Amino acid sequence: MSDPIPSRDSFGSKFGVIAAAAGSAVGLGNIWRFPYVAGENGGGAFLLTYIIFIALIGVSVMLAEFIIGRKAQRNALGSFKKLSPGTPWYLVGLMGIVAAFVILAFYSAVAGWTLEYTANSITNSFQGKSPDQIDNMFDTFIAHPWRPLMWQGLFLIATAWIVWAGVKRGIERYAKILMPLLFILIIALAIRSVTLDGAMKGITFLFKPDFSKLSGGSILEALGQAFFSLSIGMGALITYGSYINKKENLSSSAIQVTITDAIVAILAGVAIFPAVFALGGNPGSGPGLVFETLPKIFMAMPGGYFFAILFFVLLAVAALTSSISVLEVVVAYVSEELNIKRHKATVLSTIAIAIPGVIAVMSWGATSEWTLFGMHTFDFLDWISANVLLPLGGLLIVIYTGWMLKTKEVKEELSSQGKYKVILFPVFNFIIKFLAPVAIAIVFLNSIGVLNL
Ligand code: PFF
Repeated sequence: MSDPIPSRDSFGSKFGVIAAAAGSAVGLGNIWRFPYVAGENGGGAFLLTYIIFIALIGVSVMLAEFIIGRKAQRNALGSFKKLSPGTPWYLVGLMGIVAAFVILAFYSAVAGWTLEYTANSITNSFQGKSPDQIDNMFDTFIAHPWRPLMWQGLFLIATAWIVWAGVKRGIERYAKILMPLLFILIIALAIRSVTLDGAMKGITFLFKPDFSKLSGGSILEALGQAFFSLSIGMGALITYGSYINKKENLSSSAIQVTITDAIVAILAGVAIFPAVFALGGNPGSGPGLVFETLPKIFMAMPGGYFFAILFFVLLAVAALTSSISVLEVVVAYVSEELNIKRHKATVLSTIAIAIPGVIAVMSWGATSEWTLFGMHTFDFLDWISANVLLPLGGLLIVIYTGWMLKTKEVKEELSSQGKYKVILFPVFNFIIKFLAPVAIAIVFLNSIGVLNL
């Protein structure tokens, strides 16, 4: 068993906790991944399923992670070791660390794309191009031999830089300023998009559910997207939970973070789909969707030149506040469990993550021939993290909290030792003990064909 860690860093204020956790949740998952996955899975029916999963399961998994982390005051793996010594539960933490590698590998690739698009905005490269040319620009860029790699490297260095600086002075400080700014900008984009001629089709696509378009696979995609977007299922929020002050109200933080996250995803959908239908594009065009659609909106709006720069910078920042939470999972583990100093742990972890990262970023170039289950590396890592690792991790986390921790202990942590009333405790207890485990298991087994509903 590990020794007590002498002095751990922590978040400085309630707003700091929410900004950091919302910073983790709100990211490329909302603005890049949500629209493309919703677009591939029929729009409205997907959105509805996604919201149901967030409300019914997501908040509770988030709370369960906060409870484990704050109770144990350890990293994702160390928390299980401390709370249930001598049991195999630490493997859940280990799986989270594997998930962190998988996610950061492709996430840093997409974050790098946002940097290229920032540069493109500054040099006014979208100006005068036809919609087709804008689409081609993206395809040519991701297949370029070194540009995506260069941006990915830069992004990983920035991520490591903030994690190096620690929780209060790094993570919390940046999140507090930049997240509100992004929120405002996305609203401006949504307004521009819905006022385009022909926008209505996009609104209908996003908000009118057509359940004939929903397959077992789409339901798993909605669950996976909910987990990915909320940063749950891999211990990122166990790690952040361990930095939350014992006096903070965990339930209200989890609810606020969840609502913020869902709103940003919906706003991203409102910004993207009307423009896809009005300005030409295909909602099912995959990971390139946002990069092909947004430049078209910018060109169609007054001041688009400046908005484009601001938007891509903020998107990169949103990616950064998320990627630091992923890297923090690994760094907290390496420094606390392997007794390596935090700074050295940061450098080693970043280098290790860069290896799968490089393979992923070259999926349209040098590694395009490498496939797993018919997908190239990038698509495979994207798919397996959201649809397998996170739901499985979330399943084990709720089972652990519901069945391994004593109900009294859970209630005590949730109420901050009786400081807050937790009126909805029976609901939470029912969800983590029964509803969430059963629902996750059914969705999962159904989509891999074991069940056939
Ligand atoms: N929630 C982040 C996003 O939506 O972009 C991605 C993410 C961060 C996933 C942290 C998982 C995680 F642990």
